[in-house]
Amino acid sequence: MSDSRDAPVVAVEGLSKHFGNVVAVDDLSFTVARGEVCGLLGPNGAGKTTSLRVLMGLERPSRGSVRLFGEPVRAGSPQLARVGAMVEQAAFVPHLSGLLNLKLWWEADGSRWGRADLDGALAVAGLGDAVHRTVRTYSQGMKQRLGFARLLLGRPELLVLDEPTNGLDPGEIREVRELIGRLTEHGSTVLLSSHHLSEVEQTCTNVVVMNYGRLISQGTVSELIGSSGSVYIEVDDRERARTVLEAIDGVRTVHLQGDGLTVDTTAGRRSDLNAALVRAGLQVETIMPTQRLEDAFLDLLDARNTPGAPIGATS
Ligand SMILES: Nc1ncnc2c1ncn2[C@@H]1O[C@H](COP(=O)(O)OP(=O)(O)O)[C@@H](O)[C@H]1O
Ligand SMILES: [Mg+2]
Repeated sequence: MSDSRDAPVVAVEGLSKHFGNVVAVDDLSFTVARGEVCGLLGPNGAGKTTSLRVLMGLERPSRGSVRLFGEPVRAGSPQLARVGAMVEQAAFVPHLSGLLNLKLWWEADGSRWGRADLDGALAVAGLGDAVHRTVRTYSQGMKQRLGFARLLLGRPELLVLDEPTNGLDPGEIREVRELIGRLTEHGSTVLLSSHHLSEVEQTCTNVVVMNYGRLISQGTVSELIGSSGSVYIEVDDRERARTVLEAIDGVRTVHLQGDGLTVDTTAGRRSDLNAALVRAGLQVETIMPTQRLEDAFLDLLDARNTPGAPIGATS
């Protein structure tokens, strides 16, 4: 028996999903702990939507399992009531106000309107007075915020969002990002998918990178940024540091730059570089990645893809 209070909010284990001979998800495993904002990051066709649909009990896995709050998920599982999910296009009645749409949706399964967390939902969604206007007059971004309000009525512990900024303009994207920030202040756990790398970098605490249905990398955003690429270092003796760094496996080049050095690595972790410098008796003043998740993501795809293998690949 698992104690569901200690269990990760989301636990995907060995998940595969086939559609005929298309492998949409291939032996995928990852977890999301309470309070994390986890980004499921991958290009179009990577298997993100399929994974989230299995997670919500909308598709059955071909193999493997998905647990929410420690309990296995299937259609109609009781713990799905603790989840607010936006994995399908949110549909609203255009000639009714935003508020009336929320009420209709809430009451559709017989729930009492008085029990909905309307104030909380509207505070996070930030629709303002627009909630009294008909949805027909809403921009795409306002519809998205109404969709968020709808999810939040039930005080969900976990939010599952499939590409929440798709189709929005840059201003609306920023608003959704701020909205997700407000969610996390309330202690919600969030799992969102995105093919926008910079967005995951700015919004998420953790990231699961996938491609061709498979896991490529999982970690905190800062771990992933630091896992390969370019590192800027300042030390008390640049020339000696250069000799030490050049001798480390995985270090490609070392350049003097400004007051420090820029190290281009394929495998070296920052902590390894730091340890080597300290062992050599050097004083390390600064050591930081110069690379954004975007580059790390592309590096990872480059390094881990085996050509010809994926059946589930799309153009
Ligand atoms: N119902 C389906 N029937 C057949 N193939 C599907 C179905 N749903 C998804 N796929 C295929 O599975 C792969 C992963 O799709 P999807 O999960 O939508 O990826 P993403 O959301 O990352 O863009 C793609 O090759 C897609 O064409
Ligand atoms: Mg998708």
